Amino acid sequence: MSLVSADKLRHQPNPHVRSGAIGPRQRAVLSPEGFVAAQAEISAWPGYAETPLYDLAGLAKAAGLGKVWYKHEAARFGLGSFKALGGAYAVCRLLKAELKRRGIDASTADLTSGKYAEAVRAITVTSATDGNHGRSVAWGAKLFGAECVIYIHKTVSVGRADAIAAYGAKVVRVDGNYDEAVRQADADAARNGWFVVSDTSYPGYMEVPRDVMQGYTVMAAEAYAALPEPPTHIFLQGGVGGMAAACTAQAWETYGAALPRIVVVEPENAACLFETAKAGHPVAVGGDLDTVMAGLACGEISLLAWEILDEAASDFLIVPDSAAVAVMTLLADGIGGDAPFAAGESAVAGLAGCLASLAAPGMAETLGLGPESRVLVFGTEGATDPETYTQLVGRTPAEVEA
Ligand SMILES: Cc1ncc(COP(=O)(O)O)c(C=O)c1O
Repeated sequence: MSLVSADKLRHQPNPHVRSGAIGPRQRAVLSPEGFVAAQAEISAWPGYAETPLYDLAGLAKAAGLGKVWYKHEAARFGLGSFKALGGAYAVCRLLKAELKRRGIDASTADLTSGKYAEAVRAITVTSATDGNHGRSVAWGAKLFGAECVIYIHKTVSVGRADAIAAYGAKVVRVDGNYDEAVRQADADAARNGWFVVSDTSYPGYMEVPRDVMQGYTVMAAEAYAALPEPPTHIFLQGGVGGMAAACTAQAWETYGAALPRIVVVEPENAACLFETAKAGHPVAVGGDLDTVMAGLACGEISLLAWEILDEAASDFLIVPDSAAVAVMTLLADGIGGDAPFAAGESAVAGLAGCLASLAAPGMAETLGLGPESRVLVFGTEGATDPETYTQLVGRTPAEVEA
């Protein structure tokens, strides 16, 4: 019996995937030096701690896999998701660069101690978000002392908006989808002299999203260092692709030409990476991008992310919302002696893609999945929206983890 239904699962192989070591095209986006700098910076912030890597032995056995490792990001800096690493790191870099332009050479300690409080308060950072990235930018702005305005789209829940406002940011709701919120943030920033800290890149806007992704490589490196042996497969959920690209680049640096099989998984109404792989060039997905996987509700890829995924990701999958809910419930139940825990909607998409593939005729063979497989997934958020979580799973996160 399969753990997750293969209903509506779709697969797109990537014709551009290549073997061999990471190349200059990828290192022009994320470099080993950039990783060293991000790790040194982020690991010095107050509250830094590695997140746990779970060995889900019960789930692996039930699924017929050798290993399932799950990097659980719920506790990251008290923000609930891996996004804490990216937006806040980009805010830190941006503030230092802008202060330098204004004649102040500030260290991180100068920022957190308020040494240049007045000068920093004169800088406003802004971003569009589906929740987690905005929370990270707002938290970074508060930590380092800048002003912050965050744009959310029509379907972002009140709980997510409140979580951003809790860090002192002004929250503006836009009557449209994520990509429209991005455009509104851009327009208002240009008018007001604010600084956009976006997690997605587009022509003419590369530096900040590169820093965001470089921040994510810290999560990836923690996982690879904690693994007892290399994974054979890494299943990565995709929004704009920044997280998937960061984990992939770091894996390529770590494992060299023996890069594990990289599989990118997206929700059915927001599969811009899947459609891009299919077309062979960046494709935007329209509509309201509606999915319970709020963090993945993105219609346009990040161009920087594609520089990495284009040659490294061998497969792209689409899963329906029902697959994500099924996996949240599996993890909340704790299969075969695994300790139950609360994983957010967007966190489980990678694992949902893996488990749904095992139920689709011929797909396990296509992806090379079987009892010898060692699968790594990044559980990128805890129950960041407890109300939605409770509705979907039928128990509160606290009840699940009691
Ligand atoms: C929990 C979670 N996982 C994954 C992602 C996807 O990241 P990216 O947009 O970089 O692909 C997001 C994005 O917001 C997220 O919030």
